[in-house]
Amino acid sequence: MDKKLQILQHKIPNHIAIIMDGNGRWAKKKGMQRIFGHRNALTAVRQSTTAASKIGVKFLTLYAFSTENWNRPKLEVDALMNLLVTSLVKELPEFQRKSVKVNAIGNLSSLPTKAQNILEKVINETKNNKKITLTFALSYGSREEIVNAIKNISKKVVNNKLDIKKIDEKIINNHLYTFNLPDVDLLIRTSGEQRISNFLLWQIAYAELYFTDVLWPDFREENLFNAIIDYQNRERRFGKTSEQITDNDE
Ligand code: IPE
Ligand code: IPE
Ligand code: MG
Repeated sequence: MDKKLQILQHKIPNHIAIIMDGNGRWAKKKGMQRIFGHRNALTAVRQSTTAASKIGVKFLTLYAFSTENWNRPKLEVDALMNLLVTSLVKELPEFQRKSVKVNAIGNLSSLPTKAQNILEKVINETKNNKKITLTFALSYGSREEIVNAIKNISKKVVNNKLDIKKIDEKIINNHLYTFNLPDVDLLIRTSGEQRISNFLLWQIAYAELYFTDVLWPDFREENLFNAIIDYQNRERRFGKTSEQITDNDE
């Protein structure tokens, strides 16, 4: 049966985040250099965005480059940064056509100037698009994000701009890179690894986790739909009892 037909329209995850992993292994399996895998990741990004948008997912967040990824060989880092620039240039018309609003999180000032400039342009030119918000996590590390938030909150306290008693989850949320994004509902990681790798630690507090062996360059619409179907079969209890959840459903 068509996967799309199995998806329940009233239970679409509002925010999906993906750890796009396995590019290097995908290339190696083909006897190619790791960068060949990164180059072939774009189709998966495009398909996931289109598929998510088609079924009504409002937020898709993709882990593209971590703070730890700076420790990779310079050749690979440079190639990834160049790929980021060329891909954004190439995809801009597609983002407009499909009403994709582009957003970015991470330590963006550490990206090469060229990447910062094109990112700014794409974010600015797509800012009125409404169908889906596509966030790229670039030079992103969740611990760094939390450290930053603590610094900024502390500054406000020291300068008497914020009463320490007022610090709550909402205030912390508002100081994260993701201040304008809702909590993650479904977190997907490809390539068989079952870890979080410093991604959205705060924001996935109650996300459903889905791991697949598929390597990212092979990830297609059907794989995303499978993850969503799996998600829809979970019972999200948020600490309550199953009975409370079922009663609320009626
Ligand atoms: C994910 O694929 C992309 C980035 C982290 C930039 P990898 O490059 O981590 O591929 P593997 O995990 O080595 O196969
Ligand atoms: C996580 O993948 C980062 C991205 C997908 C961008 P890694 O491949 O860098 O993670 P580890 O090192 O295997 O945990
Ligand atoms: Mg990896």
